[in-house]
Amino acid sequence: MKLRKNLEQIKPYIAGKLKEGAIKLASNENPSGSSPKAIESIREFLDKVYLYPDSRCAELKTKLARKCGISEEMLILGNGSDEILLFIAGAYIEQGRNAVTSEATFSEYTFATILFGGSMKYAKMTDLRYDLDNLLRIIDENTQVIFIANPNNPTGTYVTQSELTHFMGNIPDYMLVVIDEAYVEYVKESDFPDTLSLFQQYNNLLILRTFSKLYGLAGLRIGYGIGSPQVIGDLHKTKEPFNVNAVAQAAALGALDDHEFVEKTLKINQAGKEYLYREFDAMNLQYWKSAANFILVRTGMDCMKVFNILMDQGVTIRPLPVCGYTDTIRVTIGTMEQNELFIRLLKDLPGK
Ligand SMILES: Cc1ncc(COP(=O)(O)O)c(C=O)c1O
Repeated sequence: MKLRKNLEQIKPYIAGKLKEGAIKLASNENPSGSSPKAIESIREFLDKVYLYPDSRCAELKTKLARKCGISEEMLILGNGSDEILLFIAGAYIEQGRNAVTSEATFSEYTFATILFGGSMKYAKMTDLRYDLDNLLRIIDENTQVIFIANPNNPTGTYVTQSELTHFMGNIPDYMLVVIDEAYVEYVKESDFPDTLSLFQQYNNLLILRTFSKLYGLAGLRIGYGIGSPQVIGDLHKTKEPFNVNAVAQAAALGALDDHEFVEKTLKINQAGKEYLYREFDAMNLQYWKSAANFILVRTGMDCMKVFNILMDQGVTIRPLPVCGYTDTIRVTIGTMEQNELFIRLLKDLPGK
């Protein structure tokens, strides 16, 4: 068999290793579990799983449209927001075309682009933040899609409303700008972009969101995209009919009503963030202020070594060398008990 040429560049995704019984602070999941209202909806739905799911996700679209103040034809649902990245590349990328993103960002943008025969160009960051002027500089006449993770994974940093507005004003309207807001619900910063109003102005903006993080439904795989009816129509051409399973749709409907769980999750995240910042400061470790539910921190030791030592002691984090640093790890903010254990182990690292 002859593998397609562009696939030679793709290395299969290797999920983080997990030790039996270890506390997982490696994938930015919700340490409080899943929304109880989502679980209730799943239970109520179980005797209906012999039916195919609603391929249009109609009920969920109605609820999301109301929540976001948009119309239903501006929505597309995916098997995780990861799948919507594939729709985007499937609709707009082919050989000879490229996409643009930043260094040190979410790897699936590159995967989707290469899968459909395109190439990816990376802009340099400034202080581990997306530098939108650098993105503007590397765009060329073959660029079709620009991917911006906001807040960014793994740095936790974000681009501001004024940076994004200036950027959009300089982008030709045939290029799609994807703002991946997987962590948007955690953001408290007042200069964070209000993309839902920006997007009334720009037809070439697509916003991605997910039920994986705040609502604790990562295992069910459900996310959504918000864009102009034209873009959403293009994306629907690449979607297989039953991409979002019925249990995930039921769970998402329940989760959207779970204000109590959302409040609890955000409280735990904020308290955990403040605790970790305090501890990192006390240990003199460099870290980046995060607008999300994880923090990138330099431990002063090779990140793979830190990963192995912590995993042996029962905590998994993500070792992630970024922008020339080899000692950076990304830790998900856990429950206070989990955070305290992580800090105890960090203090016990050799040389600390
Ligand atoms: C920036 C970013 N986008 C998208 C995703 C994928 O989310 P989903 O679980 O909805 O596919 C993640 C998951 O970690 C992420 O960090």
